[in-house]
Amino acid sequence: MENRLKEDLIEAGKYGRDPERLVTCYEDLDPERGVIRPTGTVANKKIRDYAVARMIEIGLEVRIDKIGNIFAKKEGYVSGKKSVICGSHLDSVINGGQFDGALGVFAAIEALRRLKEEEFKNERPIEIVVFTGEEGSAFGLTLLGSTVLIGKLSLEEALKIKNKEGKTLSEALEQIGYLGNFTRALDDVEYFIEMHIEQGPVLYNKKIPIGIVENIAGIAWVYATIMGEGNHAGTTPMNMRKDALVAASDIVQFVNRYANKMVTELGSATVGTVGKMNVFPNGTNIVPARVEMGIDIRDVKFENMELLKKKVVEAINELEKIYGVKAEVTLPITHLPEPLASEVVEAIEKSAKQLGIRSTRMNSGAGHDAQNMATKVKTGMIFVPSVRGISHAPMEWTDWEDVENGVKLLTETLKNLSSM
Ligand code: GLV
Ligand code: MN
Ligand code: MN
Repeated sequence: MENRLKEDLIEAGKYGRDPERLVTCYEDLDPERGVIRPTGTVANKKIRDYAVARMIEIGLEVRIDKIGNIFAKKEGYVSGKKSVICGSHLDSVINGGQFDGALGVFAAIEALRRLKEEEFKNERPIEIVVFTGEEGSAFGLTLLGSTVLIGKLSLEEALKIKNKEGKTLSEALEQIGYLGNFTRALDDVEYFIEMHIEQGPVLYNKKIPIGIVENIAGIAWVYATIMGEGNHAGTTPMNMRKDALVAASDIVQFVNRYANKMVTELGSATVGTVGKMNVFPNGTNIVPARVEMGIDIRDVKFENMELLKKKVVEAINELEKIYGVKAEVTLPITHLPEPLASEVVEAIEKSAKQLGIRSTRMNSGAGHDAQNMATKVKTGMIFVPSVRGISHAPMEWTDWEDVENGVKLLTETLKNLSSM
């Protein structure tokens, strides 16, 4: 029975690899090439189509909302009971792994298959969701689909966001056939549960098969464009340069140094990363004219995120004085750190005990649509181990027995939540 989930993950995991190929075990991984399926790409369409076909196979009614989120519903038998929704996302980072997001979607599908085979009578409706653009790898904002779903970002604004090819989200969704017209309000939803790989080293190092998430760290992104002056690398004297990359490199160092300082001095869980840098025009014999940078700041405490963000923005604004460059800062929506619902944490814990699977409570350093959902409905997350704690990279892997433990627990928890 468990092989179906494995087959789905292997099959869907070929989309976004170049060339498309099946990765069935850790040894198949290629450290240079992972999956690339940002929202709106052909690979993103293929994996969505694959998931929708599986949902239809089990007789679920599938609907696409106006931001491209996919919903599939199994009705409950007690009328008036609110839904329990489970799911995750199918887009990926640039060069990621086949489990991030996809595991939560295909595990939800497998859970509903098992419930159907057992002829389980769910009191509440049970729904699957696939969120649009969780990774922010195409449209510049993480947790896009859930941010619109909870009303924190307007649909109109979101649909106008452009990717680097200048295509709007609306055009991109239309092109792949996922610009729907369904409107999903959340007032008939009681619970949300997301199964996911941990993406960090805790479970793997402790050899514990299940993590139950209590808090999800917040995410603040800072975009900065540093404008210097492009010029000849051979003829421009060192004291006459406005080198945008030299200025940007100060910020790379600053983010790392300040986050480390906070960890040491405050004992905080702060992390800061300059993960993205585009250098223009990017020629060996040209003084860099412009640099675009993407800075990622996280903590489970909001005030720590805010402190690091403030210090980084100040450091960027200092660059003009030091290097004569101009700097522009854009701050996309901040995703707040969120505690998850103790009722769901306890329901997952109880389900794990019923199944005899060991678990531990933990926090999530990664961001998830669950943190948006947690602002509206009672929300929980199930984590399974990531080999060597690696994720957002081609060597991301989760062992098949851990996948099976996770889906067993998800299924059991759905049963329990369905009658709570
Ligand atoms: C989402 O995957 C994030 O944590 O960046
Ligand atoms: Mn994810
Ligand atoms: Mn991710």
